[in-house]
Amino acid sequence: MSDASLSHDETHVRTARLRTDVSHSARIWNYWLGGKDNYPVDEEVGEQILGFVPALPRSAVADRQFLARAVKFLVGQAGIRQFLDVGTGLPTVDNTHEVAQRSDPSCRIVYVDNDPIVLRHAHALLTSTAEGATDYIEADVHDPGAILQRAAATLDFTRPIALTMLGVVNFIMDTEQARSIVRTLLDALPSGSHLVISHPTTEVDGEAMAEAVRYWNSQGSAPMTLRTRAELLTLFDGTDLLEPGLVSCSRWRPDTADEAGIVDVTHFCGVAKKA
Ligand SMILES: C[S@@+](CC[C@H](N)C(=O)[O-])C[C@H]1O[C@@H](n2cnc3c(N)ncnc32)[C@H](O)[C@@H]1O
Repeated sequence: MSDASLSHDETHVRTARLRTDVSHSARIWNYWLGGKDNYPVDEEVGEQILGFVPALPRSAVADRQFLARAVKFLVGQAGIRQFLDVGTGLPTVDNTHEVAQRSDPSCRIVYVDNDPIVLRHAHALLTSTAEGATDYIEADVHDPGAILQRAAATLDFTRPIALTMLGVVNFIMDTEQARSIVRTLLDALPSGSHLVISHPTTEVDGEAMAEAVRYWNSQGSAPMTLRTRAELLTLFDGTDLLEPGLVSCSRWRPDTADEAGIVDVTHFCGVAKKA
């Protein structure tokens, strides 16, 4: 859906919700990735957070590179042709549909985010090939039922789907609830579907990350939490976690043969298959 498809009233309501005086996670993420779709308040909060963890932009880049490698693997080797991408973020280079449709133009992708600024840029996420399809749903990850219902307009739930949740489960504060939401989404997908998660952890720069998150939660519009690797593993319960398991995003099937030169980042990730 692009702005052009919104009625005047809808545009008015959404513009009113677009706070430029409060930092937003999608826009801070965009700032760390070197994008231009952010406001001074995002730059200010983003810089303050870098005061705690200067390496965070490296985490953001590693997360995006992991996304590209995982999607390429899913289409090229796991036979996946459908993606449900929850917590999409602002469009950047190598969005999910671009990576997937480069391997097979017939791939179908549904994007989901609850941030009005992402909605404003959604037209850039909807540049599908003619053979495939992309759709954008404005919805909250805490409402998996609504996501599933609306995604069914574009995705065929009798065929395998990759559920990608990069940098979004950390906005579900309670781990039991996070497990339940992931489980609800995954239960709706057929055998052969895949689960892809990336998540900020306490595994690297743990104390500094905890400080940074405390600051984030005092400034940002949506609170977030960190998890340990052990906690993250429980999100994959009941699935077959594929090699190399749950690792720093920089270490998931890296393109380089020089593994000794790889640096661990705060975001950890995994790809799993539903039996
Ligand atoms: C850190 S960004 C990650 C973007 C992208 N997945 C990536 O890995 O580059 C987190 C995204 O999750 C979205 N998000 C945060 N809370 C959400 C919620 N409750 N429901 C849906 N999306 C949410 C934000 O708007 C933002 O776009």
